[in-house]
Amino acid sequence: MAEHNTQLKVSAIRNGTVLDHIPAQNVFQVVDILDLNHAENPVTIGSNLESKSLGRKGIIKIADRFFADAELGRIALVAPDATVNVIRDYEVVEKKKINLPEVVVGLARCSNPMCVTNHQAVTTRFKTIVESKKVKLLCHYCEKTTEEFIPLRH
Ligand code: CTP
Ligand code: ZN
Repeated sequence: MAEHNTQLKVSAIRNGTVLDHIPAQNVFQVVDILDLNHAENPVTIGSNLESKSLGRKGIIKIADRFFADAELGRIALVAPDATVNVIRDYEVVEKKKINLPEVVVGLARCSNPMCVTNHQAVTTRFKTIVESKKVKLLCHYCEKTTEEFIPLRH
């Protein structure tokens, strides 16, 4: 019986950014954090692809767009081990790691229902802390720790 390659590959891009090794369940959160649903560039999203190291992974390719390190840092909350590939003329010219920012502003929701940020128009602000490889958010206002990232929008 003939061997078929049944895997659909996401095509290569000429110039731009490839975000690889995104945990499968967080691909659309990355889309959201980088506001890619409003991007005018071609964006291809691969969700639930097979990965040797992660089991399942997500990949996002954004043509003709190069991100500042601070922008990329925001995705550390949902994809800390993602690889950022900078593509120029079809070649990977740089592989970057995501750097967790010290402070996260206006991105996450505080899990404390009593927190002022959940009652008044106050921009959320957290210090990031890493505990047993997990990122936690220490609220600037109520000083409570938020363990899971909750997006502000939605
Ligand atoms: N890629 C792309 N377009 C290109 C070149 C690369 O979309 N012109 C994508 C590849 O599909 C891959 C990622 O960018 O998902 C990184 O490419 P490469 O470093 O060649 O792949 P790997 O060696 O598998 O990467 P890693 O070691 O980070 O797993
Ligand atoms: Zn709070």
